[in-house]
Amino acid sequence: MEFSTQTSVSLHQIKTTALAVGVFADGVLSAAAEVLDRASEGAISAVIKQEFKAKTNTHLVLRSLSGIKAERVILVGLGPQEEYKTKQHKEAETQFALYCQQSEITDAVSALASTHIDASTLRERCRNAAFSVTQSLYRYTATLSKPKPEAKLKKWSSWVPRTQQTEAREGLAEGQAMGAGSNLTRTLADLPPNVCTPSYLAKTAKELAKEFKTLKVEVLERKQLEALKMNSFLSVARGSDEPPVFIVLKYSPASQAKNKKAADQSGPIVLVGKGLTFDSGGISIKPSANMDEMKYDMGGGASVLGTMRAIAELNPEREVIGVVAACENMPSGKANKPGDVVTSMSGQTIEILNTDAEGRLVLCDALTYVERFKPAMVVDIATLTGACVVALGHVNSGLFSQDEELAAALLSAGRQTGDTAWRMPLEEAYQEQLRSNFADMANIGGMPGGSVTAACFLARFTKAYRWAHLDVAGTAWRSGKDKGATGRPVPLLTQFILDQTK
Ligand code: BES
Ligand code: MN
Ligand code: ZN
Repeated sequence: MEFSTQTSVSLHQIKTTALAVGVFADGVLSAAAEVLDRASEGAISAVIKQEFKAKTNTHLVLRSLSGIKAERVILVGLGPQEEYKTKQHKEAETQFALYCQQSEITDAVSALASTHIDASTLRERCRNAAFSVTQSLYRYTATLSKPKPEAKLKKWSSWVPRTQQTEAREGLAEGQAMGAGSNLTRTLADLPPNVCTPSYLAKTAKELAKEFKTLKVEVLERKQLEALKMNSFLSVARGSDEPPVFIVLKYSPASQAKNKKAADQSGPIVLVGKGLTFDSGGISIKPSANMDEMKYDMGGGASVLGTMRAIAELNPEREVIGVVAACENMPSGKANKPGDVVTSMSGQTIEILNTDAEGRLVLCDALTYVERFKPAMVVDIATLTGACVVALGHVNSGLFSQDEELAAALLSAGRQTGDTAWRMPLEEAYQEQLRSNFADMANIGGMPGGSVTAACFLARFTKAYRWAHLDVAGTAWRSGKDKGATGRPVPLLTQFILDQTK
């Protein structure tokens, strides 16, 4: 897909197959819709009065309007003007993109990003436009004998003021990169667990490093993990016949000058992803209903790979390292048993009271490993707890950090992209729930505050650097009839890294 800007002042003169303008509820026209209304001598406001309520996620197609060069004008419902925010804008762009796809349109112009939103810039809106379009064209094909046909849409233009063309173009490029990264994450997460194994994730990381010269990859295998004494991670992997992998993907800026600037900063940004390509629970086995969804337990790891892809495309002046600790959690004669005690890479011992709390057992060693990079900051991303879904539902990812500045930066990146997170507590007072009589800590803290005690567990391994934890158990995928990966939190993470680079 080719994204570009359209800067002709006279919107009605633009020749295209489909031109989208926004309409608010109660007949309120966006500025772009007003231009077309004037050019067509009130044709648009007349139609709205008769048959268009402009609810969100609706549209109306108007063909061959006199005074307008576009073949069709698509009125996209924006809902009430006072409720119009980033979310509604993204939905509107998606609505138009899906219409184009269904109608097999190849070129389209959208004026939707030109509608102002409080506290947002045009660059941000163009970013969200290109992201939404790219996202909406995602389709899963790998294991279908008759997949949906590929989208015909090839050219997408955003109508913006000429004076702001540069920032609009930058925004479009950012959104496209985020979209492609997010779609990679979705593909990996949607793949069945007998295809997307730890080795498959490693292969994908290697392919990324082949495609982008700025990425270097290293894949550590069982022997190397043993030498590193990652016994907590290995204890989880041991229950499965699939070999574990530990992926390290490093991005360094392309040019020497950029590299120097990057080196001047306090160290790389490190992302650490939970990569459980299947979580059966192990000996503490999960109930069988919906267990298939535990193929998504690598969503955090997949979001690290997707973000690294977006970053490699955008070339920010900042070193970024993505780490994915990948294995399966399975019951077997070699699997962890409740009561087992393991010694983590950090030297701290852990009593495994529930083998289904395996994410933290995998992540703790990864978090110790990344100390060697002397990171400026570390963000881990994990489908860590069902308790986080209970707390926040499917709207916000859970954000845990004791670093105010880092937490604020992540929350802001979430707001800008509509890929939002909500701050959760992370205090010493919860730590006592992890007390064990037979090890330095237990791997579970009981029912109360389950997502908080999981974060508290991780906190014990992150004392050497600035750190935040994102629990994406409720946001990485959708269940039910529209079951599928969301690609979250790739937009949040990419935006966060871009913001850190300024
Ligand atoms: N991967 C799961 C968390 C999960 C469960 C995410 C359901 C999304 C939906 C994680 O490994 C897990 O099983 N956590 C346990 C922890 C408990 C045993 C303390 C949980 O949340 O039930
Ligand atoms: Mn589990
Ligand atoms: Zn899990």
